[in-house]
Amino acid sequence: MYDISNYKIKPEPIILGIESSCDETACAVIRGRKLLSNCIISSASEQAKYGGVVPEIASRAHTEAVDEVVLRALNEAHITVRDIDAVAVTYGAGLLGALLVGLSFAKGLAYALNVPLIAVNHIRGHLAAAYLDDPSLKPPFVTLLASGGHTAVLHTKSFTHFEVLAKTLDDAAGEAFDKCARVLGLPYPGGPNIQRAAEGGKACIDFPSALVKHSQSPCFSYSGLKTAVINYCHNLSQKGEPVNAPDVAASFQKAAIDPLVDNTVKFALSLGVNTVTAGGGVIANSYLRQRLSEECRKSNLKLVLPQVKFCTDNAAMIAAEGLNKYLSGDFAPMSQNAAAQIPLGG
Ligand code: KG4
Ligand code: ZN
Repeated sequence: MYDISNYKIKPEPIILGIESSCDETACAVIRGRKLLSNCIISSASEQAKYGGVVPEIASRAHTEAVDEVVLRALNEAHITVRDIDAVAVTYGAGLLGALLVGLSFAKGLAYALNVPLIAVNHIRGHLAAAYLDDPSLKPPFVTLLASGGHTAVLHTKSFTHFEVLAKTLDDAAGEAFDKCARVLGLPYPGGPNIQRAAEGGKACIDFPSALVKHSQSPCFSYSGLKTAVINYCHNLSQKGEPVNAPDVAASFQKAAIDPLVDNTVKFALSLGVNTVTAGGGVIANSYLRQRLSEECRKSNLKLVLPQVKFCTDNAAMIAAEGLNKYLSGDFAPMSQNAAAQIPLGG
């Protein structure tokens, strides 16, 4: 029978993390804050044929990959299942069928080993990626979150609590990258392809900034910027004129990213917090990384910027957030369900 009522929390547990919310089937092992292995099997190239993630293809790919990715992670960590102290898994947000593959596997494993199951919010996983790069990192700090579903500046107050300082009123930054890529005819996934195109272009087109003007407190909007890029491209093609994709990409990137960087630094300075972190797929963007590094350096702020492999979806970040929940004894029941949507902060 599954019974963890007498479970004793260890200071340096071995946690196996599983991620399957979108198109990456991932498994990682940590001991305390030390990463022992980090494995990914991706269906992104399969999804690229359809211009985006097809949920049914994602679920099937997870089903085929989950055993193998877990075995790889155990082997690379040089441990066996018996060494696992807890199993952390993404329960949402994401594609329901995809989430259920990882969650069901994690439940089975936790049940068989009689160890805690930890249900991780994918976005909190992205935020915990910073702990992988700096195991000594401790809140408080200001965090820039920019992903496919969320864009916000947060005041991370403790290992388990944060306050939203500013957020997008509509689309997320990642969504805007993906839509602009589509209008420029660039393949899925859009973000990295916009970045690549922008490297050969100049930010010479005056697109509206993602910072909402005349708002009492800072907030962002990506729908106006996205529409401006779409209109700009359509107007040119209606006139039979060529679209300079590198210039559009560079101009869009600047309008999308500058306000995020500037306001993150402003918030850190105004709150008197001396550390900045970042998380989410868009944090993989080289222009964002360069600008955030420069601005933090100029303002004497310590920046903990997760490596690119910890910004895009991975299981190491799920295990890292799993540790935060483990240490506070926040375990999930075997009846834990998957959730397609979770509010920011949930
Ligand atoms: O954080 P993430 O996995 O999404 C959610 O969990 O919601 O990130 C996916 C998003 C996509 O929109 C993708 O285009 C974007 O991150 N992305 C990038 C880059 N790499 C991924 N955006 C801009 N530049 C990149 N290099
Ligand atoms: Zn993600």
